[in-house]
Amino acid sequence: MAFEGLMKGWQILDWLGKRPAGYRVAMLSSDNSYCMADIHERSFFRPWSAEEFEHMLSGREVVADGLFINHGKQLGGFVMSRIAADEGEILTIALDPSVRNKGLSSLLLKEHLHVLQQRCVNKVFLEVDENNVAALALYRAVGFRENGRRSGYYHGAAGRTTSAVMMTIDL
Ligand SMILES: CC(C)(COP(=O)(O)OP(=O)(O)OC[C@H]1O[C@@H](n2cnc3c(N)ncnc32)[C@H](O)[C@@H]1OP(=O)(O)O)[C@@H](O)C(=O)NCCC(=O)NCCS
Repeated sequence: MAFEGLMKGWQILDWLGKRPAGYRVAMLSSDNSYCMADIHERSFFRPWSAEEFEHMLSGREVVADGLFINHGKQLGGFVMSRIAADEGEILTIALDPSVRNKGLSSLLLKEHLHVLQQRCVNKVFLEVDENNVAALALYRAVGFRENGRRSGYYHGAAGRTTSAVMMTIDL
């Protein structure tokens, strides 16, 4: 449709007043490593360092997209995947706690899947902790389907283990 051709999906949602305005999704590079590590630290029990992000993003097979807030001035979250031939794996997704529960994660993930599609990826995999209610709801809402479990995969505090839910989506 001509109208849709002029406006991206999130711009239409902004225009309709369905999402908070003043954000955008853009590709990230190793220049963003410190901000990514900062958000990761506030999101995971075992965070990845800026050096780890820098190393991963130095490879052509790793692609990351960021959600910029405050009129594009500040990184509010990101998603990062590894591509192998026509398959992708979501390595991590995290939103700063202040940005959560606004429905912005599905916007970020959908745009990222679109980027993967443009890189000729046609199937995407991920693993998620069975107790991560928000992440499971996000992945299901975007269209991922469960295709297996790995028991005792995640090791949390006090030696507690939980299973990984394996999910996939065809693009
Ligand atoms: C996972 C994460 C990115 C989701 O972002 P979010 O802003 O919290 O989620 P959203 O507000 O976009 O909501 C996504 C869905 O989860 C649901 N949801 C969010 N929090 C929930 C909760 N505590 N309980 C149940 N459902 C929840 C929302 O209702 C929404 O579902 P819908 O689309 O059917 O309405 C975010 O919580 C996060 O960064 N968590 C820490 C890092 C992490 O766990 N990453 C995933 C690793 S696999």
